[in-house]
Amino acid sequence: MQILIILAHPDPSSLNHAIAAAVRQRLEEEGHSIWFHDLYAEQFDPLLPAGEIPRDVRLDPVIFRHCRELSDADGIVIIHPNWWGQPPAILTGWIDRVIRPGLAYRFVGDDSGEGVPEGLLRIQAALVINTSNTREDRENLVFGDPLERIWRDCVFGLCGVTNVTREILRIVVTSTPELRRRWIAEMGDLAARIFPGIP
Ligand SMILES: Cc1cc2nc3c(=O)[nH]c(=O)nc-3n(C[C@H](O)[C@H](O)[C@H](O)COP(=O)(O)O)c2cc1C
Repeated sequence: MQILIILAHPDPSSLNHAIAAAVRQRLEEEGHSIWFHDLYAEQFDPLLPAGEIPRDVRLDPVIFRHCRELSDADGIVIIHPNWWGQPPAILTGWIDRVIRPGLAYRFVGDDSGEGVPEGLLRIQAALVINTSNTREDRENLVFGDPLERIWRDCVFGLCGVTNVTREILRIVVTSTPELRRRWIAEMGDLAARIFPGIP
């Protein structure tokens, strides 16, 4: 399978980076081809310019490459921390610029954009891995777990990807090195279960 991995965390020594490296390695061991983007390391520009909003415009080459990979991928893994109940802004900007009409979704018939779009992505499975410092009960009761709605419904559901697994690792700030090592190994194993290689 062709799998796209998107990592959004500024610190190369972070748990997020360690998880991304483990996921990448396990998926490569499974025989998959990987497109890997560390958005901060690549200095991805998250600002959607006005001229890029219309559907059929000539895209910046970097954005074009991201769009082509998203459109050709069989699977996707997104890895990021919970920041204010949202992805880091660099990743929100990646969504703005890369998940485009005509590529990831479209409005059908005489629908001018007010209706329910049709998903266009061929991605068979999505894995979202989030790290967090909030207890599960507080995240769900007080904040309503906004990242769940963002990824499962607002992004992947809208683009036609219904097979979405989301894993939340918490609480990072009080976790022991041993627990973090276990999380890293478990995320590699989880990715390999979701995207099994051909034996
Ligand atoms: C700008 C910012 C906003 C944050 N907002 C939240 C939040 O809303 N909820 C939460 O549980 N943790 C929040 N955190 C904590 C991060 O989720 C936590 O530091 C991260 O998941 C730990 O993973 P890391 O070691 O890879 O950085 C925030 C951290 C930062 C820097």
